[in-house]
Amino acid sequence: MGERILIIDDERVILNLTCMILKDRGHVVFTADSAMEGLAIVAREQPALVVLDYMLPEVDGITTLRTIREQFPRTYVVMFTGKGSEKIAVELMKAGASDYILKPFSNQDLIDRIEAVLRLREAELHNIELRQEREKLIAKIANWNSELEQRIDEKSRELEKAHAEILQIEKLASLGHLSAGMAHEIRNPLNAIGLFTQLLQTELANDSEKSEYLENIMREVDRIDETLINLLALQRPTDNERTPVMINEIIEQVIADNQARIAARNINVSTRFLRLPPPLQAAKNEIAVIFSNLINNALHATNPGGTIVAELDHDDTRMFVSICDDGCGIPEKNLNRIFDPFFSTRQKGTGIGLSIVHRSVRDHGGRITVHSEVGSGTTFHLEFPFYLSDNDRQA
Ligand SMILES: Nc1ncnc2c1ncn2[C@@H]1O[C@H](COP(=O)(O)OP(=O)(O)OP(=O)(O)O)[C@@H](O)[C@H]1O
Ligand SMILES: [Mg+2]
Repeated sequence: MGERILIIDDERVILNLTCMILKDRGHVVFTADSAMEGLAIVAREQPALVVLDYMLPEVDGITTLRTIREQFPRTYVVMFTGKGSEKIAVELMKAGASDYILKPFSNQDLIDRIEAVLRLREAELHNIELRQEREKLIAKIANWNSELEQRIDEKSRELEKAHAEILQIEKLASLGHLSAGMAHEIRNPLNAIGLFTQLLQTELANDSEKSEYLENIMREVDRIDETLINLLALQRPTDNERTPVMINEIIEQVIADNQARIAARNINVSTRFLRLPPPLQAAKNEIAVIFSNLINNALHATNPGGTIVAELDHDDTRMFVSICDDGCGIPEKNLNRIFDPFFSTRQKGTGIGLSIVHRSVRDHGGRITVHSEVGSGTTFHLEFPFYLSDNDRQA
């Protein structure tokens, strides 16, 4: 295929002759008889090849050669030199010429050398393109790799989280079974102690000192019983029949149940129902236990005069509830232990509340997370789906 070739020579005869020979071979030929004119044509036409005379008036051939090679690296240069100037020819090759042709030349020699350089040029340019392509591909692969690594990291984190959840559930399941069994066994003798204490109370109604001892015994019996009831609740309830439940009503009921404590400690409890969600298909008792525990914990954590806010919102598929207090907060080292059964920092706490909350939330296909800062307060965020997918449904 023909290429664009420029001949720069101040000898008209050479210009015409070379032009004719090269056109004959199907090339597109430009001519110039000075370096200045030649450079202008190179800039405009970007030829594949320049055949350049070494002996030019004004600007010499080697300077022109360097300019072309520097500014237009895709344009190759073949030099014309006079006989006896082989030393110069070596200089020219060093300065970027692809070949040189000694004058006078034979037509065939001219054609052979020029077309050899054109073939070399094509191969070299193709090579450069391939190299660029390769570099682009390498960059792309590096990019994919880092994306992949990122995704693997993300998935690993998700897996770790899921694993922690499973661990939590298993812990509760095995502990629940054991402690519920024990609780059941202890409640019978405890009931007996309670009954006999009550008998003694009527017997000794007139002895104020002994009556007080008995009252103490009764109080402690009641406390043990409360703990045992909590332990029993650890075992999965059997009658968790799902009915439409209005969460706002449950929250309000829990607040009303605790009104005496709230008033006594002058705590400001408020609700912020941004949008009233439709009813949730849920086990009403379990939902009540969830909010009773969260609000109770918040009441324990807040100082007199503190604030607790229950917030409610929803979108098309999920309901969002948060219980926020400005109480003591949870130290970071405890944050991943608070849902563990029997983890408690309260002197009279059993540490069962949040593990039951966690299980009940999961039973309803929901999620619970906590944000807390020591000294500023704690917020529990809960999320329940309106429709349970098979994935959400716990076995
Ligand atoms: N709102 C809160 N602010 C600060 N700490 C909290 C809050 N809620 C929970 N905690 C921390 O988490 C621990 C575990 O709570 P959880 O409800 O499981 O047990 P508890 O309240 O100690 O005992 P109980 O079984 O009687 O509820 C608490 O002892 C407390 O340290
Ligand atoms: Mg609690």
